[in-house]
Amino acid sequence: MAIDPTSPVPKYAQLRDLLLDWIVEAGLSVDALVPSERELGVRYGLSRMTVRQTIDLLVAEGKLYRVPGKGTFVARPKIEMALALASFTEDMRARGFTPGSRDLSRRIGPASGGTARMMGIPQGTPVHQIERLRTADGEPMAVERSSIPVSIAPHLDTFSLSGRSLYSILEEEFGIILDSGEQTIEAGVCDPADAKLLGLPLGSPVLSMQRRSFAKGRCVELARSLYRADRYQLHSRLDPRRTAGS
Ligand code: GLP
Repeated sequence: MAIDPTSPVPKYAQLRDLLLDWIVEAGLSVDALVPSERELGVRYGLSRMTVRQTIDLLVAEGKLYRVPGKGTFVARPKIEMALALASFTEDMRARGFTPGSRDLSRRIGPASGGTARMMGIPQGTPVHQIERLRTADGEPMAVERSSIPVSIAPHLDTFSLSGRSLYSILEEEFGIILDSGEQTIEAGVCDPADAKLLGLPLGSPVLSMQRRSFAKGRCVELARSLYRADRYQLHSRLDPRRTAGS
């Protein structure tokens, strides 16, 4: 396949699709070197600037990655974001990664108006405020900020969360079994501090997730998490179309 100069689709976007197809057809696996910008320019009859635009796009999408001085390589496939009430630990283990957690901050503080509203508790109620960097095989994946009412898990602050799952502590130490939840996921851009934690360039896209988890109708956790958009994607099954009246 070649670039179609008469197509309304910009050339850099055509090259994106051609390159992705070629990677599959040529059987390039993860970490395989892709041809240089110069070679691609010659192969597809495009300027180096157009090729660079395509590579920049594929890098931003998490399909390719660059190693300065070495070239551009095929990235790992993205991880599908869990659409279940799974803990990060369970989810990573199920996918064959070793989960990790680094405490960024832990404290007890008064629930702000927004947090209190979301959790159905009075404003100012003491909540554990837990901020963690979550890793998979040692690589930063997400920053998670959770609020949990102190009344639900009084001494939670005395348990270390490095190397231990929050959900398993809630279950084993406090007898809390989460039985329902809901989450909202939207696109976002990480601020400089989060970009640094996640090892991403400034202004990188993230999937911003807000989750409420409940046990017996009571909100146990409100979590706001930032997941790397270059490592995560969302996949959902679609229900059949409903016909009028059904
Ligand atoms: C997911 C959720 C978080 C929750 C975490 C618990 O990542 N998005 O809201 O805090 O799981 O994970 P773990 O039990 O591994 O600490």
